[in-house]
Amino acid sequence: MCGIVGYTGPQSAITPLVEGLRRLEYRGYDSAGIALGTPGSLFIEKRAGKLGNLEGALPANLPVVHSGIGHTRWATHGGPTDRNAHPHVDNEGKLAVIHNGIIENYSELKIELEKRGHKFTSDTDTESVAHLLSDLRKENKGDLTAAMREAVKKLRGSFTLLAIHADAPETIVGVRRNSPLVVGIGDGENFMASDVAAFIDYTKRAIELGQDEVVTITPGGIEITDLSGKKVAPREYEITWDSAAAQKGGFSHFMLKEIFEQPKAVADTLIGRLSDNNQIQLDEIHMSDKEIKAIKKIVVIACGTAYHAGMVAKYAIEKWAKISVEVEIASEYRYRDPIIDAGTLVIAISQSGETMDTLMAIRHAKAAGARVLAICNTNSSTIPRESDAVLYTHAGPEIAVASTKAFLTQVVAVYLIGLKLAQVRGELKDSEIHNLYNEMLELPAKIEQILETVEPLRELTRGFAQSASVLFLGRNVGYPVALEGALKLKELAYMHAEGFAGGELKHGPIALIDQGTPVIAILPAGHDHALDEKMLSNIQEVKARGARVIVIAQEGDKVVGAEHIIRIPVASALLQPVLATVPLQVFAYEMAVTRGNDVDQPRNLAKSVTVE
Ligand code: M6R
Repeated sequence: MCGIVGYTGPQSAITPLVEGLRRLEYRGYDSAGIALGTPGSLFIEKRAGKLGNLEGALPANLPVVHSGIGHTRWATHGGPTDRNAHPHVDNEGKLAVIHNGIIENYSELKIELEKRGHKFTSDTDTESVAHLLSDLRKENKGDLTAAMREAVKKLRGSFTLLAIHADAPETIVGVRRNSPLVVGIGDGENFMASDVAAFIDYTKRAIELGQDEVVTITPGGIEITDLSGKKVAPREYEITWDSAAAQKGGFSHFMLKEIFEQPKAVADTLIGRLSDNNQIQLDEIHMSDKEIKAIKKIVVIACGTAYHAGMVAKYAIEKWAKISVEVEIASEYRYRDPIIDAGTLVIAISQSGETMDTLMAIRHAKAAGARVLAICNTNSSTIPRESDAVLYTHAGPEIAVASTKAFLTQVVAVYLIGLKLAQVRGELKDSEIHNLYNEMLELPAKIEQILETVEPLRELTRGFAQSASVLFLGRNVGYPVALEGALKLKELAYMHAEGFAGGELKHGPIALIDQGTPVIAILPAGHDHALDEKMLSNIQEVKARGARVIVIAQEGDKVVGAEHIIRIPVASALLQPVLATVPLQVFAYEMAVTRGNDVDQPRNLAKSVTVE
């Protein structure tokens, strides 16, 4: 939801700003803009559409300027037009602001500011901050940092803001509330951005910022203060991946690269989790055996694809650890009266660690006394910081908007938690843990095997490109896989797609089946193939009504009624989602390519949803 970058140092700022925006474009791509710190009056350029439109609009004789701020937008208030693009400026054109998030009280502020003579030129909530800061800077004798502190006290909502003023253009001031902002520490230069990916080419030293902390960067200094002006000690950390991880590496799209990175991502997430005496090693969950034994109920909170990983958690944890698990869509959770107490363990799953719906839900759960364990892929992001403990997945940066490798690693992380809980509570013997963990270690090679044989699947997919709708069926852990397959297809191919539990079919959805409707059935389901027969009946039911059925089946599984069979390696039923999801990712990817869609940046979406 909007990418933000700031630079101050000896380089010509346009290079780190545009490169940074390119790395952040996954966060939103409705428009892009920059403000360069030209002394005396800022140079501003902004354009609706993708970053390329902004680059095309930049003059060839752009002055060499050593500081600036840049923005790539996912529109909330005001359509995706040139005039609503960020930066927004004060009436003198000397102060520029970029923003990620929502200023909830912007209309009240606007009325007040208009009374004081400010003229507004956009439909955004952000512009009110530019005018407000302009007044407060004057009241604070030209001190932009003090003005920012004062401004933040008047704002409601979620925001990351960066501001620059033409009278001190080497200074950039930023702040964050419920929205991400990191500082990059360079050598004689400094950076700010929504995500370290923006400056990874220049430095691996970063500082995380807390709520309502105001940061001021100049080429030679970084100062962080709280809203009272008290200095805050920087919390520095090292970025552990390099810039190659944020590039396509010869693949035509980030999504395809990320699909092919899945064997490594799964292996990295699993590594070193079983001791020589068969004990699951998850020290970072920070729970004693006594505390694990006292868990009465688990609530998994997540959105989108992460929610589907949460559904797999329910099947695995209930089966292995015999603890009741509820899975909640984060945006619904706190708006009812969920039953939470000290015996509730909340597991929050989030790739980005910044999803606002999930963040708000865990705050609600914590306030009610629950312990919160995060599963997250992004170091030092907000959700892990606000949780009691975090289990990091090791997928590496996921750039494509459609989540792939993050999903598989989230599923692996919930398996590890399930095994740990089962072991401590005595529900699985050490030998069973040993066998399951070792079977999990075989998953990377099995994913590799699937990826080696995707060409026929890609060809098959192209044959369905004109379909109006695709339905996905699964039972047991095959059900979340069906939902995930449908979500991938919706977001990438813009096709109507739905996932159903096989048993629900006859309760309504079967009416959707028409002559030629593609149905993808995920056969591996239920322990010891207990549900295979039922899935095969579902296949017959839809086929009898004209569906064209594609079946995902294990090697050796008996399949009747399929027009096409996609074989995946054999695995225990509960582990099958890690394998069965992969062909569905490829199906959605190929469908998007065939239909000419933007695979990595599908329309209307943003990678990190930092507004409610
Ligand atoms: O960063 P998160 O895991 O919290 O994001 C949750 C969803 O927004 C995300 O999984 C979304 O559904 C993906 N675009 C799906 O591919």
